[in-house]
Amino acid sequence: MLCLGIETSCDETAVALVHDGRLLGQCLHSQEKLHALFGGVVPELASRGHLTALPVLLERLLERTGLTIRDVQVVAAARGPGLLGSLLVGMGMAKGLALSLGVPLVGVNHLHAHLLAAGLEGEIPFPALGLLVSGGHTQLYRITSPFQFDLLGRTLDDAAGEALDKSASMLNLPYPGGRHIDALAAGSEPNRSLFPRPYLDNRNLDFSFSGLKTAFSQHLAQRPDLRLPRLPDDAALARWSEDHPELGTVCASLNWSIAETLRTKVERALQDKTAYRAVIAAGGVAANTMLRSLLAETAQARGLALILPSPALCTDNAAMIAYSGWLLARNGWEHDQTVEALPRGKPIPWDYRPRSFPNPSTSP
Ligand code: KG4
Ligand code: ZN
Repeated sequence: MLCLGIETSCDETAVALVHDGRLLGQCLHSQEKLHALFGGVVPELASRGHLTALPVLLERLLERTGLTIRDVQVVAAARGPGLLGSLLVGMGMAKGLALSLGVPLVGVNHLHAHLLAAGLEGEIPFPALGLLVSGGHTQLYRITSPFQFDLLGRTLDDAAGEALDKSASMLNLPYPGGRHIDALAAGSEPNRSLFPRPYLDNRNLDFSFSGLKTAFSQHLAQRPDLRLPRLPDDAALARWSEDHPELGTVCASLNWSIAETLRTKVERALQDKTAYRAVIAAGGVAANTMLRSLLAETAQARGLALILPSPALCTDNAAMIAYSGWLLARNGWEHDQTVEALPRGKPIPWDYRPRSFPNPSTSP
């Protein structure tokens, strides 16, 4: 079964083709440079960007894979959560294609798709504990099958990626700054008492990262010399970090506080009575070096499989949407044309309907 996946939930426009669980190809256009000018994603510009990029990417994908649009047997698109205007562009295209091709339409939960993406690289053993860490979300899930996600905890305010990006912008690093903090931290030892590990003094599995951002800004108020004078290019950033070795320590310390907080809650979640077989970390922040190594320690100590999708599958992409769409369609689930796109903050219902397979006795 060949599934076309469309991703437009934030500032990445992407299309991908998955055939029987295998990725055939993906074309992706990032609007990162455009939004970096504004220090964050401008929703209106993002939607307009998706509208112009999508048809070009689709044509390129078909050319590269040597397929035609008529070969597509299922159309899947991210239905949320995300920026509403952006989601509507992808969903609108998916609805039009499904209708004109006469094939099933599947709206995909973007967060679940992040966690399932690893299935493209190897089999996921269930039940798995899923940690989703991105610019907009920080969540823990018990995942008992590709279709059964129980939310165990979530952030009460900022997401882990948001704390990294906002701290990075206080340093005058380009947006989104998470990967720059990660790169600057490389080779430096964290100072484990520099920043707090927030919201651990409780028994729950929720997170709160807004206080960490405040602690970071207070530290910079004492050390304004660490802040870059203006947005750097890569060469200027490398020179600045060579001249300011303490910057590496500060970035490593922030990285550690966030990663260790996430790890602590993962360990707490693993103590419930579910016989987990794996830990999955997904979303952009799962590309973080410190987080990957702390989770590796935890999984190894408990004899669990650690599933970390490759960095390209961690950040937003359409391969994960095509893969989730294929899993759902293969199990007979689809949406009708009234399926809604849902913005961040609204729960995403399980509102698939069982597919009505044509009755062989009435087929021509
Ligand atoms: O999943 P994603 O691409 O988009 C959504 O937010 O849905 O995640 C983007 C987030 C940003 O906050 C970005 O700074 C962060 O992932 N990120 C990283 C790294 N690479 C991307 N954070 C820490 N370390 C990285 N290597
Ligand atoms: Zn995402």
